[in-house]
Amino acid sequence: MIKKALTKLILFLLIITLHIHLKIYALSDNSQYAPLAKLWNVANDEVPKLLTREKTLIEASQKLKPLLDGINFGGSYIDTKSNKLFINIINLSLKDNITNSMKPYQDLLSFNTVNNSLTKLNSTFDKLTSLALQHNATNYIISNKYKVNNIVIYLDPNDYGRNKAFIDNAMQYNPIIKNSASIKGEPKSTTLDSNAIESRDVFVYVVGGDWIYDHAGNEVCTAGFWISRESRSDLIYLVTAGHCFDNDFANPDGSQNFYTRIYNLVNIGRMMYHSLQLKDVGYILKESDLIVGRPIVRGVARVSRQSPIIGSLHSDQLEAGSYLCMSGAESGVQCGYIDALDANISYRDGYYVEDVIITTIYSTLGDSGAPVYHSESDDPEDFPDRILISGIIISGRRGDEEEDEEMTSVVQPINTILVDDFFLITAN
Ligand SMILES: *[C@@H]1O[C@H](CO)[C@@H](O)[C@H](O)[C@H]1NC(C)=O
Ligand SMILES: *[C@@H]1O[C@H](CO)[C@@H](O)[C@H](O)[C@H]1NC(C)=O
Ligand SMILES: *[C@@H]1O[C@H](CO)[C@@H](O)[C@H](O)[C@H]1NC(C)=O
Ligand SMILES: *[C@@H]1O[C@H](CO)[C@@H](O)[C@H](O)[C@H]1NC(C)=O
Ligand SMILES: *[C@@H]1O[C@H](CO)[C@@H](O)[C@H](O)[C@H]1NC(C)=O
Ligand SMILES: *[C@@H]1O[C@H](CO)[C@@H](O)[C@H](O)[C@H]1NC(C)=O
Repeated sequence: MIKKALTKLILFLLIITLHIHLKIYALSDNSQYAPLAKLWNVANDEVPKLLTREKTLIEASQKLKPLLDGINFGGSYIDTKSNKLFINIINLSLKDNITNSMKPYQDLLSFNTVNNSLTKLNSTFDKLTSLALQHNATNYIISNKYKVNNIVIYLDPNDYGRNKAFIDNAMQYNPIIKNSASIKGEPKSTTLDSNAIESRDVFVYVVGGDWIYDHAGNEVCTAGFWISRESRSDLIYLVTAGHCFDNDFANPDGSQNFYTRIYNLVNIGRMMYHSLQLKDVGYILKESDLIVGRPIVRGVARVSRQSPIIGSLHSDQLEAGSYLCMSGAESGVQCGYIDALDANISYRDGYYVEDVIITTIYSTLGDSGAPVYHSESDDPEDFPDRILISGIIISGRRGDEEEDEEMTSVVQPINTILVDDFFLITAN
């Protein structure tokens, strides 16, 4: 009896403690650190320390890369939680040479002995991409993933019949095949009053992470960021994904109007250019005087905190294993790791996109176009102010639940968006 009562009491105490803990975490979920705390699985107040670590690891990695030739090494990646810079090495006799050349960072280095050199991985990647084209494969991602020192192919089991010839031929290269369902569906219909706002005194701000709507009031995609042209700096464009364009809503001139919403829909302007093949990006020209484009990304949850954009981070400045975050209209701020910096993706409708980045960011329908960024600063006072844009979300795939696979989000890199004389509008 007494024992039972005691157990009950202990359980009760435990529950109270759990509640208190839950409460603390729940209360601090609005912290600007919450998305990274979730990613790294640490308390919010540990995030600044990890940000500092990651900054050092990135410095070390950038110093390391020129030392790695394609024959004796198989790529490198960082792991912020364990504070390591992992180096895939084939010929161990070169280890001391690297260690000596990386003096200030020696304690961070960790060598993995692997079989696939970077040159080998690159050539396997090329062989697999041409096999995929040759066998008319569909709805796949082919990526070069340093962490597993192999090529990883993501396929949707629903397309097995069509992809069978490709898979059969691909097996000779021993790639890793992952099953993942691509996320697809109809936009959410919310049919709104599309009367434009009349007053000339009202300004409507559009920032990265906002919903953008079609003229029926459907929430279509996420606003990315604002850009302009050197030759026409009087014009500004809002960047989002190219597949947000919908033929059913096309104007006679082949463009499509997109809207923001405050009570009613407010016209932003026409998507003048969009691309589905090779890259997935659309440019919406700001045509309404009511709209004010701001170089800002919407912050965590409903906290008013917003992050000014101060520049961009090209794909060759990114390190495998480092974090990236996005601000999606549907999912809010979500962070993940960079899984692969070289990847090609094919959509089910026959389009394919080259040179994309694979991340473990969680995204879903409606997040397409969301700005993807890394913080410039590791200063807790600043975070997540001063962000650097590295691209937009263009696709998401959900991993096999039974295998406990994580989410995969595909990023269209900023350097493929800022072509010709386009430049990013920043808050400097
Ligand atoms: C491998 O491919 C990547 C991406 O195309 C390229 O940046 C790198 O230089 C290549 N490395 C080798 C050793 O071929
Ligand atoms: C490893 O590198 C050393 C030094 O460059 C070289 O002498 C040796 O032949 C290499 N071993 C292999 C197996 O390539
Ligand atoms: C490492 O190897 C390179 C080329 O083999 C050589 O030039 C360099 O001096 C070596 N560095 C060290 C620290 O041994
Ligand atoms: C590398 O290849 C050898 C010989 O084929 C094999 O025994 C070893 O398991 C491989 N190592 C890895 C990390 O795949
Ligand atoms: C995929 O990537 C490779 C190397 O980056 C490139 O040469 C190839 O043309 C790409 N495209 C397709 C559709 O596979
Ligand atoms: C590729 O597959 C699609 C869908 O099954 C089919 O319509 C198309 O004709 C195929 N193309 C080639 C070149 O086999």
